[in-house]
Amino acid sequence: MNFIKPTIRPRRLRKNKEIRDLVQQNNIHKNDIVYPMFIVEGKNIKQAIKSMPDINRLSIDLTIKEIEKLFKKGIKGFALFPYNDISLKDEKGTQSTNSNNLINRAIREIKKQIPECVIFADVALDPYTTHGHDGVCDEKGNVLNDETVEILTKQSIELAKSGADFVCPSDMMDARIINIRNALDNNGFENTGIMSYAVKYASGFYGPFRDAVGSNNLLKGDKKTYQMNPANKKEALIEAKLDVQEGADIIMIKPGMPYLDIISQTKQEINNPVAVYQVSGEYSMLKNMIDNGDLSDDVIMESIICFKRAGADIIFTYFAPKIIDMID
Ligand code: PBG
Repeated sequence: MNFIKPTIRPRRLRKNKEIRDLVQQNNIHKNDIVYPMFIVEGKNIKQAIKSMPDINRLSIDLTIKEIEKLFKKGIKGFALFPYNDISLKDEKGTQSTNSNNLINRAIREIKKQIPECVIFADVALDPYTTHGHDGVCDEKGNVLNDETVEILTKQSIELAKSGADFVCPSDMMDARIINIRNALDNNGFENTGIMSYAVKYASGFYGPFRDAVGSNNLLKGDKKTYQMNPANKKEALIEAKLDVQEGADIIMIKPGMPYLDIISQTKQEINNPVAVYQVSGEYSMLKNMIDNGDLSDDVIMESIICFKRAGADIIFTYFAPKIIDMID
């Protein structure tokens, strides 16, 4: 047989680690990472979340300790979610606009201790409603858009007052960004940013998160009338571009790994920073298999670097504490 020798040898650039490192096209930097955290009432409380190995709900004092530790290591951004007792929930999510609710107290205390850390505060009603939806409903259970936006606007002002750097509407109501921007500006919060969960799919991968914030057993029906259909791609551009026009500073895509094409498309079409959320179900799938010994923990970096390759600028991930040690 007449052997044909390769004329081009791409393997030269993979010869050893040093060369591979030099030609590497994407890197994870600690500046890219945001750590989502769950907060619970009380002192010195650390509650395991059954469906999220290694992730705990922490009381405010322990949250501050954890943020201090991670901030020193270089993580700058923290996304906060409250776990509220059922006694604080009602049909309208009334507690969401209370300036002394758990999340507002947490933000004030965190900002007092670590003023430089960047706080991303979620805007939606699901931790506050007895039906688990992100908005208020009519008698038939339909989630009402405009009535919800009015409440989200008030919730945003309280979060801004408490010191949130970014308010982050994750509710998917129409025109919430323009209304929140307008309300922030009219109340002296011109410098509070909006990170919009602009492209949020109705995903099964949020299951463990709903366990973490205690809305899992409450949710009536599903969120398909407001979150996007996983089958749709172009619709993501309608949502992302609308939110940019309405005044969003950062555009979020969520979930992460099953939606790399959406990240890539969005990054090409808009000029604002693009964030991605590696959501609770993605985290727990990987973590459970790593803990079982069925996957090596190499999959952590692989699952994060793919977001950079797709074009994401900011990555929200429950692996943040692990990643910061891996890239040290
Ligand atoms: C709700 C919200 C959800 C997440 C962030 N904000 C869940 C949902 O829409 O039901 C999911 C995050 C995760 O799964 O890690 N406003």
